[in-house]
Amino acid sequence: MENASTDADPIDPAPIEARLRVDVFVQPGEGSSLAADVRAGLAERPRRIPPKHFYDARGARLFDAICDTPEYYPTRTEQALLEAIVDDLLEEVDPTMLVELGSGAARKTRTLIEAMLRRGAATYVPIDVSEEMLRRSARTLLADYPTLRIHGLVADYDRHLGHMPDGGRHLIAFLGSTIGNFTHESGARFLGKIAESMGEGDRLLLGLDQVKDPAVLHAAYNDAEGLTAAFNKNVLRVMNAQLDADFPEDGFEHVAFYDAEKQQVEMHLEAMRPMEVRVAALELTLAFEEGERIHTEISRKFTRESAERLLADAGLALERWDLSEDGYFALATARGA
Ligand code: AVI
Repeated sequence: MENASTDADPIDPAPIEARLRVDVFVQPGEGSSLAADVRAGLAERPRRIPPKHFYDARGARLFDAICDTPEYYPTRTEQALLEAIVDDLLEEVDPTMLVELGSGAARKTRTLIEAMLRRGAATYVPIDVSEEMLRRSARTLLADYPTLRIHGLVADYDRHLGHMPDGGRHLIAFLGSTIGNFTHESGARFLGKIAESMGEGDRLLLGLDQVKDPAVLHAAYNDAEGLTAAFNKNVLRVMNAQLDADFPEDGFEHVAFYDAEKQQVEMHLEAMRPMEVRVAALELTLAFEEGERIHTEISRKFTRESAERLLADAGLALERWDLSEDGYFALATARGA
């Protein structure tokens, strides 16, 4: 871990640039695995592509819009829960730094930052692969909070967590139930890396969407406006733009359902007719039969028991469990085991 200053003068705040430090560990486009993922995943049966490829600029906007639909309850439920518990949580953890995986200027980030500032000085450590996004949201936050300091890392969570700034206790937030987009094994591996980077006073705050009425889950991933369908199909546009492919958007249908046994929502793209798709950059031609699917996402839903198993397999121990009133969403606070 590396040093960072956390002192702040509330009467005479330093200018934005003096309160912002950004360390860059990855360059734009570095490590994009789209070509390899398409080559390997689309040749497999069932065909698959990892959900991280949804998120170009349009995909990120579509996801933001999904979060505001009446059907997609996780964002607003997590936000309300966080607001209800944040002061009590910070009293317990007493962090000096808020580390967030993803450079959020979102409400949940602000809720955490504001609660930290109510207790005194705070440093926010966003970790994101996009320097542009990170700097943009950092400047907005620094303008809004004159005593906040930001030490951002343009980094890959998988490789660079060891560069978290030193100094006091870290609260590492991984919210939105993004961990649900990992399998149990890859999620445990990922959280295990976080666990390895954690000191004694550090805590992980993990957002976890809960198992619930399948009808509620079905609606959340099949919104009436069709935003989730557009988000799912966005991966076709990403492949068309970045790999010179010719996937017809109207040739595929959005399919999302809850598998109660696996306790996960699955998203697929289903070919509506037989077709051949050319991926020119990879010199690849893919033949689809009618009804054939590309598996694009899993979104696992948790119970307290499955969350504890996941944490234990990552070398973490559950310390605090906060559940929304409707039981839809939980925030787990964990320490190194
Ligand atoms: C980012 N992630 C937690 C979302 C989820 O619910 O799994 C992505 C998403 N997929 C469809 N709608 C939202």
